[in-house]
Amino acid sequence: MLIKTRAGWEIPESQATPEATFMDRRRFIAAGAGLIAGAALPEMAFAQGADPTLDLYPAKRNEAYKLDRPVTEEELAANYNNFYEFGTSKDVVASAKRLGTRPWTVTIDGLVEKPFEIGVDELIRKMPLEERLYRFRCVEAWSMAVPWTGFPLKKLVELAKPLSGAKYVQMQTFMNPRVAPGQSQRWYPWPYTEGLTIAEASNELALMVTGIYGKPVPNQHGAPMRLIVPWKYGFKSVKSINKISFVAERPKTFWEGLQASEYGFWANVNPEVSHPRWSQASEQVLGSRERRPTLLFNGYGEQVADLYKGLEKERLWA
Ligand code: MTE
Repeated sequence: MLIKTRAGWEIPESQATPEATFMDRRRFIAAGAGLIAGAALPEMAFAQGADPTLDLYPAKRNEAYKLDRPVTEEELAANYNNFYEFGTSKDVVASAKRLGTRPWTVTIDGLVEKPFEIGVDELIRKMPLEERLYRFRCVEAWSMAVPWTGFPLKKLVELAKPLSGAKYVQMQTFMNPRVAPGQSQRWYPWPYTEGLTIAEASNELALMVTGIYGKPVPNQHGAPMRLIVPWKYGFKSVKSINKISFVAERPKTFWEGLQASEYGFWANVNPEVSHPRWSQASEQVLGSRERRPTLLFNGYGEQVADLYKGLEKERLWA
């Protein structure tokens, strides 16, 4: 991995727009009041033993990835999460503990030489883990900067051996409404599904994350394995993945299925393209009063802008 030059991340801080509200929750409350059936089945709560990959942490930091801002406090990042399977508030820590993350099998299928299933621990041990400091920008206009541990998604693409007809990588979250009460809310297009082009998935920045702050990733952040694509809005970074499919057609993603006019497939960060209901010009930095101007591609243009040459007619930004 090589980052040619220091990217232009050292930008002045300034004030800008107020924090936006992500979803029009009233719409969903009206549509689904009382539908959270079977949500709290105590027998589905799992005790979590020691993580079998604990010895791999902390992984060596890859110093090529620098930040232009302080690292967000661990406590803050760990208690301000979006994980709709476990509720629409930011406070999902307790609810997400219900998810048993071992054993955990990942299915690799679709247009590959030979579909297979692999235990997540075996997969993690096959892969070169490293720590990277990344900025993370939510479409809601808040941001954080955290040390993720993981392996390049590109390595998983190589392991899967996609056939030439494969154009996209589709990634899905587990589906178990008895554990994840949000999945009983049938107006959402579960399971949470995301996708990248093969070129995006093979970009050096696309990271399959298994840890954060030098430890295995906790449930609320997407244990045991989640995606991080830091040049895109956070909703692309699907959590708790158990299925990866190589496909010919562009996958229909979760938020696109819910509200295509507001959340598209590409979702690259761009301060100049507003969300239909709020500006994306600036972001609220978690844990500070500071608003920073948002950066094109979240500041990772040098690494990713080339991916979009020739795609200018696509809706690349939201
Ligand atoms: N993945 C799943 N399965 N379910 C979700 O609700 N939320 C997305 C993304 N991945 C989400 C998900 C959104 S909107 C954001 S901003 C990030 O996860 C939040 O990641 P974090 O909670 O680790 O900060």
